Amino acid sequence: MPASINHKIASKIEQLREQLRNHAWRYYVLDDPEVPDAEYDRLYRQLQQLEQAHPELLSSDSPTQRVGAQPLTTFAQIHHQQPMLSLDNVFSEDELTAFDRRAHERLHSDAPIDYAAEPKLDGLAISIRYEQGQLIYAATRGDGNTGENVTQNIRTIESVPLKLLGDDFPKVLEVRGEVFMPKAGFEKLNQQARRNGEKTFANPRNAAAGSLRQLDPRITANRPLSWYCYAVGVVEGGQLADTHSAMMQQLKQYGFPVCAEAQVVKGVAGCMAYYRQLLARREQLAYDIDGIVYKVNAISQQQLLGFVARAPRWAIAHKFPAQEEMTEILDVDFQVGRTGAITPVARLKPVFVGGVTVKNATLHNMDEIRRKDIHIGDRVIIRRAGDVIPEVVKVVISRRTDRVREVIMPTKCPVCGSVIEQLEGEAVARCTGGLFCEAQRAQAIKHYASRKAMDIDGLGNKLIEQLVAGNTIQTPADLYTLSVSRLASLDRMAEKSAQNIVNAIDNSKQPLLSRFIYAMGIREVGESTARHLAENLMSLDALMQADIETLQAIQDIGPIVAQHIVTFFQQRHNREVINKILAAGVVIQNPEKVAVDNQPLQSKTFVITGTLPSLSREQAKTLLLHAGAKVSGSVSSKTDYLLAGEKAGSKLTKASLLGVTVIDEATLKQWLAKD
Ligand code: IVH
Repeated sequence: MPASINHKIASKIEQLREQLRNHAWRYYVLDDPEVPDAEYDRLYRQLQQLEQAHPELLSSDSPTQRVGAQPLTTFAQIHHQQPMLSLDNVFSEDELTAFDRRAHERLHSDAPIDYAAEPKLDGLAISIRYEQGQLIYAATRGDGNTGENVTQNIRTIESVPLKLLGDDFPKVLEVRGEVFMPKAGFEKLNQQARRNGEKTFANPRNAAAGSLRQLDPRITANRPLSWYCYAVGVVEGGQLADTHSAMMQQLKQYGFPVCAEAQVVKGVAGCMAYYRQLLARREQLAYDIDGIVYKVNAISQQQLLGFVARAPRWAIAHKFPAQEEMTEILDVDFQVGRTGAITPVARLKPVFVGGVTVKNATLHNMDEIRRKDIHIGDRVIIRRAGDVIPEVVKVVISRRTDRVREVIMPTKCPVCGSVIEQLEGEAVARCTGGLFCEAQRAQAIKHYASRKAMDIDGLGNKLIEQLVAGNTIQTPADLYTLSVSRLASLDRMAEKSAQNIVNAIDNSKQPLLSRFIYAMGIREVGESTARHLAENLMSLDALMQADIETLQAIQDIGPIVAQHIVTFFQQRHNREVINKILAAGVVIQNPEKVAVDNQPLQSKTFVITGTLPSLSREQAKTLLLHAGAKVSGSVSSKTDYLLAGEKAGSKLTKASLLGVTVIDEATLKQWLAKD
């Protein structure tokens, strides 16, 4: 081939690589892709084809060359030219104040210190070395001095640049950061493992570690790993900025992903405000974090402060309350749910975790117990993240004694004594007692009265259990027969409270169709399915008469849910209960009809905050949804309106900062009435 043609191809290849690097940078680092994925894929394939036709032009920094290496037999060791440090921890504002005071003393300064505050990512530390802008190697932290060479695995992470952007980077640059697995990827990976009958990972951190320490890089390439950089190691032949925050911006320009939550704050007060707002948002983040890291922002001050042993004096980790703790399983009970599902529940030696004392943890079902090899008397790791029900993560096998006992599923319902059956292919065992079973009756009524269903104020779970146990009520329809005197005759029930409950039941008699459908507690018909049913069928009669085909034509409704709905209405008992409810004066509202023809707030996004004068937040949400609006939990630049009542707090502040229009309940009602 003539040299000039080959030269042309070489420059085409280089041009494609540059384009792909740039698109990947915009996608992973700036979070602002310029072209759709399909365009990226097209360029990628074009490059692949050219490289295949011209193997002599292949280069290891090509975006196509992330996977390619053969499996290793062992990881080689890498000595860190500059040690990888760890951080000291604080657990309270007092300890943080002491850290800040020590820093002031060493700096001989009273001026509040600027701190770069960042999430403490829960993954594993990594150091990646670049020379002349090319990725040379990547190593784990190891003992801080020597780590493992995981270069070929790190190369498979799409957001790790193989070649740096631009040309004004230091000649030698070690970038340090945290490799982690985003929560969504972790869930997917575990789901897949469960389907294949393989072992699951206990948490995203373990999954990230297990994925990075694979000898076969093709396995790592298939794991949803991500990373953020947060520091540098060796820097030679070039200068970085003189504050941590500016340095991070510089690294971003070279192509490195930096956590978007990072912020510069002033003094302990600034640190604490940052800590609180991130702790409140912990569950909403796409990745696990276990605290905040504060770093003195000025590099000159960092140098004055220096190091002690293994940790810098200019940085500190402020840990969040632990979400995992160890405790003991004292016993296992079996609970009966609304649909008869029998759920094993571990009774625990009380343990403080995720900010509360936990005494019970769900074990889901017998398959789960077998998979996790759980026995009564075992020492276990409990996890409680946010509002999620506490779970047993795993057994600490090394602490098992010979006194542990096996968990055995009862053959009879612990509440009503009916036979328990487990259908082929189902993980869940069920009590066959139906509404004969007191537990199922109580659960069905609790669900009916709950906030997102009929929203009957003051009718608590304990009271419902009491009424069911005393045989005062058996189905939701019986709620309408309750009198003040009957309620007032119960233990610890004052006349006034009894009157309030009867009023609340009365006030709930005009539910929206969607809420009523949800309230019936049909299996697998949640809030949003109920809404789709209401919008499409427009009346309870239509729903009761719908056949499987009609139902399946509706958004999100598959054959199983459709079958559950048909079966539900086939039960004479259920139809009788519904008739009694209607006879008691419940009138189903049907604004879905209006909503479909005329949605005045079509695709506007609302956030609701504070106490509204007459509507509950649930009611306001339903009104908005029926007017075609979207309702979100947090204010962002995408929010169109904030519906605010009394005692509105941080959401109102944020809305004013972002220039979001704030309206009150009266305005909303006016808008809806006008249309
Ligand atoms: S800075 C000298 N920043 O926490 C700087 N570390 O407990 C040392 N970590 O080994 C690290 N997020 O694996 C830093 N934003 C962050 C971090 C972070 C997580 C990890 C890192 C480190 C460990 C120390």
